[in-house]
Amino acid sequence: MTTTPSAGRTFPHDFVWGAATASYQIEGAVDEDGRGPSIWDTFAATPGRVLDGHTGTVAADHYHRTAADIAMMRELGLDAYRFSLAWPRIQPIGSGAFNQKGLDFYSTLIDDLLEAGIDPVVTMYHWDLPQALEDAGGWPNRETALRFGDYAAKIVETYADRVTVWTTLNEPWCSAYLGYGSGVHAPGRTDGADALAALHHLNLAHGLGGRAVRDILGDTSQLSLTLNLHVARPDDPESAGDLNAARKIDALANRGFLNPVLDGYYPPDLIEDTKEVTDWSFVKPGDLEITHTGLDVLGVNFYSTQRVRTYTGDHARVMADGHGNAAASPWIAADDVEFLVQPGPYTQMGWNVDPTGMTELLVRLSRTYPDLPMMITENGASFADEVAPDGRVHDVERVSYLARHLDAVGQAMDAGADVRGYFVWSLMDNFEWAYGFHRRFGIVRVDYETLERTWKDSAYWYRELLRTDVLPPVEQAAQLA
Ligand code: FCB
Repeated sequence: MTTTPSAGRTFPHDFVWGAATASYQIEGAVDEDGRGPSIWDTFAATPGRVLDGHTGTVAADHYHRTAADIAMMRELGLDAYRFSLAWPRIQPIGSGAFNQKGLDFYSTLIDDLLEAGIDPVVTMYHWDLPQALEDAGGWPNRETALRFGDYAAKIVETYADRVTVWTTLNEPWCSAYLGYGSGVHAPGRTDGADALAALHHLNLAHGLGGRAVRDILGDTSQLSLTLNLHVARPDDPESAGDLNAARKIDALANRGFLNPVLDGYYPPDLIEDTKEVTDWSFVKPGDLEITHTGLDVLGVNFYSTQRVRTYTGDHARVMADGHGNAAASPWIAADDVEFLVQPGPYTQMGWNVDPTGMTELLVRLSRTYPDLPMMITENGASFADEVAPDGRVHDVERVSYLARHLDAVGQAMDAGADVRGYFVWSLMDNFEWAYGFHRRFGIVRVDYETLERTWKDSAYWYRELLRTDVLPPVEQAAQLA
């Protein structure tokens, strides 16, 4: 039996161990207790948008199973639980009246988590925009950011006595470029100028949400933003063309979000690169003061890496990255970038497994922003899990993925990165956006017929890690039940 290189690595005692989910992916109950429709309800109901026509109508039925799910979290030994609030549950049309039953649902969830000794880490927005706001123009419309500011003020006011860590947005890259560029996510629009306007209005929404957090919570607030930053390496680091391709993706995917929030400007090269698509006149005087909130903790989601080069047009363009970069790039002035096939192994998403990217990203961030604490708000893997004859799910590939990435986080910490916590994606199997229920990321299995939860080996392994703060050997996972 091989020993795991990572086994034995110890994490600090105050390291925050968590698990993450998102409202549309787990809750179900889309028509209950006054919830309004979201863009994901509409998108999923549109034939051809989601694999096999799956929708989040029932999802993991978490709305009706919160007590049991919290009991499961307690058994796992979670310090914290990262979840999102469904805006259309709280404010059905995204403006005007708030829905008391929606507010109450999360209030009870928060109380029950605290009662179980689990810190609630709240994401204000994880992609389920009220449909009425999309009908009025969606994220390319500046109004949406202003409406988000009102919604944020209401939720912070409501829960500030119990919640200190507030993440405004989850992965605005996806909302902007997949929602309005490639159209593979809701609302499924394809227009480059809209995608870039969405990027700015999401940054503005972050700023307005951040203001609400700071105004209401003052010094005790932990303002956060979760980004899916990209590690896009040049194919040939000696080639000016390849370096330029990497720079372009870095501007679009990384600095386009980090700079307005942490430094108060948009990267000049991003504005220059995209000038054929938009003139950026949606950035109004004063906006960058609003976006420039700084952060108490940056949320980092990491899954895999990319390899890029400049496309010279002499062959069919390679579009090998499964994250949607390649599909989005023609719309956002990056159609001269090729995304090359990466060496494996791959997860079921087609994403390459490359933990060195995790270390590289965290070290880079810690050098650029030395005083910025970080937490890994998502990391995990989808594999084609099977229930074994013994009724268990022996998901050794997932355990190995988690072990290797946690070791990579540890290496970044050894190199000086200030990483405060780690949230596995995901607590349980759920509606994986355009892939519906065909991709399972959970450490707990959900049977979509019975909605029964079954701990996979990765859950037992994670529990052992949380109990000891020491990475257990991968090959022990099956024995930890
Ligand atoms: C991230 C999303 C999350 C989940 C994982 C696999 O991009 O934030 O909801 O779908 O990917």
